[in-house]
Order: sequence, then C-alpha cells, then structure tokens
Amino acid sequence: MRGIKIIGTGMYVPETAADNNWFSTILDTNDEWIYSRTGIRERRISTDKPNYYMAVQAANAAIADSGIDPAEIDLILAATCSPDFFYPALSCLVQHYIGAVNAAAFDINSACTGFINALDTASRFLEDGDYRNILIVASERLAPHCDYTDRTASILFGDGAGAAVVTKGDKPMWSYLSAKGDPFNALYCKVDQSRSNCPLLKEDSEVSKFIDTEAKTHFMQMNGKAVYKFAVDAMNTAVTKVLERAKLIKENIDLYIPHQANARIIEAAVKSLGLPPEKVYVNLENHGNTSSACIPTALAELSQQGRIKDGMTICMVGFGAGLTSGAIVYSQ
Ligand code: UT7
Repeated sequence: MRGIKIIGTGMYVPETAADNNWFSTILDTNDEWIYSRTGIRERRISTDKPNYYMAVQAANAAIADSGIDPAEIDLILAATCSPDFFYPALSCLVQHYIGAVNAAAFDINSACTGFINALDTASRFLEDGDYRNILIVASERLAPHCDYTDRTASILFGDGAGAAVVTKGDKPMWSYLSAKGDPFNALYCKVDQSRSNCPLLKEDSEVSKFIDTEAKTHFMQMNGKAVYKFAVDAMNTAVTKVLERAKLIKENIDLYIPHQANARIIEAAVKSLGLPPEKVYVNLENHGNTSSACIPTALAELSQQGRIKDGMTICMVGFGAGLTSGAIVYSQ
C-alpha cells in the first residue's frame, strides 16, 4: 500500500510586494480589473535573491518543523520551472546549503503541476523502504521570465517557495497524473539561445519559428483563454479521477488545496464539481500564482494556522504548462 505522511512544512516569500496599484504605474491596468478577473491583490517579487535562496529558506523551515536532522534526509526532489541554472539541479543546490549530506537529489519540471508530480514520485520511492525521509521543495522565481509589457500575463505571477518533509504513512494515498503535450500554443517559455557562438547553428530553427517577436524570445508566452479553459477542465477531471481511484466521494474530503492560478478558475471548477467552497483553500489574493510553489505554500500556511489535523483526508490538485495536471488524495 502506497501511503505518505507529511511531517513538516515550510514556506518562504520575498519581502518586496508588487500590488495591483504598482502594476497600474507601469501598464494600462488597474486594481479593479485585476482583482475582479483574477482574485489577486498583490504578489511577491524576489528582486535580488536567486531561486535557490528561496528554496533553501522553505526547505530549512520544513526540516525545522519536522524535527529531523538534515543528515536524515535520503532524497531531495525539487520542483521548478524557473531554475537559476540548467545544471546543477536546484535540488543539488538545496542539498548543499541545508547540509543534507546523505541525500540523493534531482529536479522535476512540470510547471505548476510540479509539486503534485514530486509528491507522487516521493510516495513511490518511500514504497521500497530504502528511502525514509524525502524533502520536496517547490520554488519559483518567475519575475525574470515574465514580460512586464504584457498586462495579461505579468499580473498573474509571483515568486515564492514551499517545502514538505514526507515519510511513509500508514494510510493509503491515490494519485492521478496527466500530460497533454502542447508545446507552443498555450503556455511556454523558450530557452534563450541567442548568445550561442557555434557557427553551424541556423537561426531559423524549429523552435524559433514559434516565437512571437525576436525581442520576446526569452519571455513566457501565454494564451490566457486557452489556459483558462484547460485549467477548469483539468481540475474537474483530475479531482473526479482521483476520487474514483480512491473509491471516495467528494464529501469524504476534509480539505481541497487547488493550484492558485486564478480565483475564477477555482470557482468555476468548484461549482461544476459541486464542492463546498468552505473546504477549498484559496490564498492567491496575497501571493498570485507562484506555479509549483502554490500548493506547498498553502500546506505550510494551513499547518501554521492549525488547520491540518491528524486523520484529515486532503485532496490537492494542480495544472499548468505542458499541459500537465494531476491530483493526490491522502490522509494525514
Ligand atoms: O498556472 C497557469 C497559468 N496561467 C493561467 O492560469 C491563465 C489562465 N487565464 C486567465 O487567468 C485569464 O484568461 C486572464 C486573467 C489571463 C485574462 O482574463 P480574461 O477574463 O480571459 O480576459 P480577456 O483575455 O478576455 O481580456 C478581456 C479584456 C481585453 O480587452 P478587450 O479586447 O476586450 O478590449 C484585454 O485586452 O481585458 C483586457 N485586459 C486587461 N485590461 C486591464 C487583459 N489584461 C488586462 C489587464 N488590465 N491586466
């Protein structure tokens, strides 16, 4: 039986807050539009610290909360789509800075679904008994990848990190993971290869022809309406499928933690699934969409508020670029 227990959670958000009024000083937008269309009032921006700094802060907080020593961590899984380096992996940087001297480490990139995929992966590593304590850290510094002349996308995203220490649990867990490969139509961010000096490379490559304008090659490109539609459908499907696998009904779940993309996406899915809104955690008003960090940040906040109790059955659901989606049901 596959089972997990989350024994510690932690989070970190940068100090600098960019509220909707700040956006109205750089773009043709305003607080009324942004709040009514997204539910977001402000998001944090890591103005001077790298992604790995945030990841390390969240990881240290989760380890302190768990009460274990960093040397007892056997594996670190880092979820990110905005690393500071191609390599080493973010998880290796975290391993170094937290002193997890006995841990293996690798990264998972499935954008906003990263924490769900990492938690599912962790549960499978915990199965065979070789790995006892696994640190999952999801951390995103999206500001360098957003186009701050694009009022549709830049207003959505924030920076931050969340982490969880996971051990094998004695209650079953279930998951549903999905990918619908759609590389260029809905949401993508191309690696900037414009500084390459290999004389053999051709400028008009397979990838470059999808880029909107030369000046924007390295920025996130998003078709908001397409992602919106995908997100509502994906959340519906993932929750329905994972409940079917768990042989549970929606009333059996004590708490739903969705990816925090847009309050309207969450409301639409909650309505069509018939979930009681009071069981659905929403924190995007102050954080915006921090991609893979949304769900573990919510876990850490809920835990700090004393709202996660032993025996509770929790459903987490994520969706994002890829296009990927997934849900996990577990009992704490
Ligand atoms: O983790 C996944 C990441 N991505 C997402 O979750 C994105 C999902 N999509 C969305 O959240 C929404 O589609 C958006 C928030 C991006 C856009 O909301 P919308 O209700 O779909 O707006 P729209 O694109 O239909 O635009 C409506 C109008 C347009 O003006 P016109 O053509 O009607 O004159 C836009 O130009 O709103 C305009 N608009 C804005 N106006 C003020 C777009 N962005 C803004 C803005 N401020 N920031």
